[in-house]
Amino acid sequence: MKEFIINSPLDMHLHLRDDDMLKLVAPLTSNYFSGALIMPNLLPPITTKEALFKYKQKINEACEGDDFKPHLTIFFQVDYTYEFLKNIQDEIIAVKLYPFGVTTNSETGVSSMDVEVLRPTLESMSKLGIPLCVHGETKGFVMDREKEFLPIYESLAINFPDLKIIMEHISSKESIKLFKKYDNLYATITIHHLLLTLDDLAGGMLNPYVFCKPIVKRPDDRQALLELALSAHPKVMFGSDSAPHPKNAKECHHGAAGVFTAPIVLQILTQLFEEYEKLDNLNAFVSLNAQRNYNLKVKNKTIKLVKKDFTIPASYKYKKEEVVPMFSGKTIPWSIEKN
Ligand code: DOR
Ligand code: ZN
Repeated sequence: MKEFIINSPLDMHLHLRDDDMLKLVAPLTSNYFSGALIMPNLLPPITTKEALFKYKQKINEACEGDDFKPHLTIFFQVDYTYEFLKNIQDEIIAVKLYPFGVTTNSETGVSSMDVEVLRPTLESMSKLGIPLCVHGETKGFVMDREKEFLPIYESLAINFPDLKIIMEHISSKESIKLFKKYDNLYATITIHHLLLTLDDLAGGMLNPYVFCKPIVKRPDDRQALLELALSAHPKVMFGSDSAPHPKNAKECHHGAAGVFTAPIVLQILTQLFEEYEKLDNLNAFVSLNAQRNYNLKVKNKTIKLVKKDFTIPASYKYKKEEVVPMFSGKTIPWSIEKN
């Protein structure tokens, strides 16, 4: 195999940030993807129509060309009314729920995951057909946080059978089991959770560039996720969770959680699906499943991958911003052919 075509790739979980960081990272996705689901965890988070419009405009300005569609989300609040949601519905693809304090910029997340506390907003979303994206972690022991959240996912799935619930960036084999049990549970998977385990983060020298939430886990978790992605299960979608942080916020005391992968995801996915002889499933994993699950009309975009070494840059810079991608300096066998 010397070349491979991906049609209209979609990244269903992406952090674009704001200001100069947005200007730096947005083209790295918009040049190669047809669309992406954009996370709302800015400071302050996106919770109003005004903030949403302003952010959408900034994103469109930061993206080069007009063949990329950003699908925006708002940050879940327990007091969103039916009227508010109906009014904003056409502008968003989903609502993203963060439990309080579990990851970057989630300090205004929900403080109680009690179904009755969440019910008014979730019932409105369910009636309106607005999907719910969830960061499913507790504040327990770091390796078990996702597993401990599973009863909450289960109760959401049972209580709101008409609500599409997306288990974001699943990282453990237990999550896969639950995801398969309920028709209204969907999932996204990142490339870092497909490639890495805790050993890559902390088994030798510490690598802050693969530190993220949820944390990368055990070999059997990684293996189970890989099988799910390679099979392109119809409810599973690619979501990079590419989450840039400035270099000095990663290489420091209290380093930020987030793996920056946007410039390498398509090349790595091609390498991975080729290695396991599953290239036939790659378009489903990275585009078709998301189109169907989210009822999306995509901007047609053909991305040609060629078997040619690509050395991942040490970092990407714009003005004072500098961000280091996962695997910086490493050479991988696939490149994207420029149009
Ligand atoms: O590692 C992470 N970084 N996980 C998240 O859920 C958020 C993200 C970020 O915004 O940096
Ligand atoms: Zn994220």
